[in-house]
Amino acid sequence: MRNRFQRRVFNPAMAQTVLPEKIQEKITAPRLIEFKHIGRKIVVVTAYDYAAGRLADRAGVDVILVGDTLGIMALGYKNTVPVTLDEMIHHTKAVKRGVKNALVVADLPFGTYQASPQEAFHSAARLLKEGGAHAVKLEGGVHLAETVRLLTSSGIPVMGHLGLTPQSVNLFGGNKIQGRTTDAAELMVRSARALQEAGAFGMVLEAIPAELAKRITAEVGIPTIGIGAGADCDGQVQVWNDLFGIYPGRPLRHAKCYVNLGEIIEEALRTYADEVRQEAFPTEENSH
Ligand code: KIV
Repeated sequence: MRNRFQRRVFNPAMAQTVLPEKIQEKITAPRLIEFKHIGRKIVVVTAYDYAAGRLADRAGVDVILVGDTLGIMALGYKNTVPVTLDEMIHHTKAVKRGVKNALVVADLPFGTYQASPQEAFHSAARLLKEGGAHAVKLEGGVHLAETVRLLTSSGIPVMGHLGLTPQSVNLFGGNKIQGRTTDAAELMVRSARALQEAGAFGMVLEAIPAELAKRITAEVGIPTIGIGAGADCDGQVQVWNDLFGIYPGRPLRHAKCYVNLGEIIEEALRTYADEVRQEAFPTEENSH
């Protein structure tokens, strides 16, 4: 039987609806693990600023990810590699100011955690102390187990990220589906187990075959959050700009655009420009 949180179909007529106060609750990392065990799907969305954080929180999203897609979506970089820790902290602070209930997870950007567990600790601590994040996410599996162990044993909740890990775009030679060979799939299953054993509270599975995501989801006791990983993950994550048609590039197969705000905003801006040029705006109504 589905519960009230599962399979809610988006209905534009209901777009103003916010979850009633009584079913909004403060989301914590341990609570997400409980969600997996009671079969309540976990909703995750990225956000990069105060307004987006506030809207996602009011809509009852469980986890707001200040992803390093920030670099592409908000800062105009080609990929996530150039994103700095200071940029992540700046945007995490902004998002956090809009959030009351959701768990705010911030990405550790490329080059701020791979060299050693100690480096990872200092970077993660800044995301929590200065950015106000509740948890951090990092890309990698087995080889980062020691790092995840140090962070979690120091009180920092960690979310892993397996499959297409965009910070490795230069190694992969592009954004390609991962885990297609038997060896790659086995390594990913081992990585998922290693993340759990090291204390991670969940993991993103990005762009991997749905069957592999289903297997990992069944084998680990912590939630899997899919993006391009099929319907059997414990939750789903989508990138803000993809949901609203404001991605400055081609649409991705795993993304769903719920409302094409890009077109709506562009059209509104044309109308505004016309009205200013034709001296139809401002009117008396808009004047003091
Ligand atoms: O940075 C990001 O937005 C992400 C999601 C795509 C999972 O890592």
